Amino acid sequence: MLALERANPDTARPMPILALETSCDETAVAVYDGDRGLLAHRLHSQVDLHARYGGVVPELASRDHITRVAPLLRETLAEAGIGFADLRGVAYTAGPGLIGALMVGAAVASGIASARGLPLIPVHHMEGHLLAPMLETSRPAFPFTALLVSGGHTLLVAVDGIGRYTLLGESLDDAVGEAFDKTAKLLGLPYPGGPHLARLAESGRPGVFRFPRPMTDRPGLDFSFSGLKTAVLTAMPRAVGEQGRADLARGFEDAVTETLAIKCARALDHTGHRGLIVAGGVGANLRLRARLKALSEQRGFDLYFPRPEFCTDNAAMIAVAGWERRAEGRTPGAGLYTTARWPLADLRPPAPP
Ligand code: KG4
Ligand code: ZN
Repeated sequence: MLALERANPDTARPMPILALETSCDETAVAVYDGDRGLLAHRLHSQVDLHARYGGVVPELASRDHITRVAPLLRETLAEAGIGFADLRGVAYTAGPGLIGALMVGAAVASGIASARGLPLIPVHHMEGHLLAPMLETSRPAFPFTALLVSGGHTLLVAVDGIGRYTLLGESLDDAVGEAFDKTAKLLGLPYPGGPHLARLAESGRPGVFRFPRPMTDRPGLDFSFSGLKTAVLTAMPRAVGEQGRADLARGFEDAVTETLAIKCARALDHTGHRGLIVAGGVGANLRLRARLKALSEQRGFDLYFPRPEFCTDNAAMIAVAGWERRAEGRTPGAGLYTTARWPLADLRPPAPP
């Protein structure tokens, strides 16, 4: 282990770390310092590259990360006004994600860390999402409850501190972002469908389509969203014209939003926490944000969201998580430390290959 503190014992000096995120279809780079905050961040989205396939093509994603990462690195360091010599650690998303895509970020991070003799800090992608609210001026204090809603995960987590996570509930089938994307596909919207469906729902009328709120009528904090997609499919013939499609999108969005709100209220009752954080791509959904805001005012808890651009994948969140985990930095060279699957509740760093 090569701890960051040992690399720079003078805590008064700035200690920026570099962070790389390449777990899926965003190439992202950030520079962060615990005292000065986020110094710079850059992102390239591969949405256009994958759009015609209706989903992320892993091989294309890996290849594109390779071509994008170096220019983004240069731009990010330039914007932060620093060079490689100023860095004190290199964080990267080690999993979960597409293994080929993860390997690109891991290899680049490992190369920089080796060349500069810096600690290499493997970060769990969902811990990045979880800590993204720390990028904002109003930061949540531990303990709090977290709702993490992305394309691959739907998790309710009790957070007692960094690395002290207890899984309260999760989706038993589709993740909520996946449900958004599949429903959007049924409506003929481009990939990734979540934001497109949300836009269509804006002109939809509430109550025209009423879909089930899955698993809210029984105790527990788990979710299930695959049935909702089937309910939408069955209702499709009734969604006539542009207004009909918008009404259906609105009905779907209301069902998801209400389900998440019910489970959040239940989770807070269970934990007794006074704060709820919501993060992950679906956390950018405005109707969800408004519904949870209303719930927080009604029940008197504090609500924290990252700004929408830090809800979806980015490197700033990996930088914050990397900063918090800096003491776990490793000497590069023993392996690339990537893993496609990595439960959040088990945050031991992934084993070397
Ligand atoms: O966190 P994220 O960027 O990537 C993963 O780690 O999966 O989440 C992506 C997911 C996609 O399913 C996307 O459709 C969804 O977040 N999403 C949204 C919105 N923005 C992104 N879903 C609903 N409304 C949005 N505004
Ligand atoms: Zn994500």
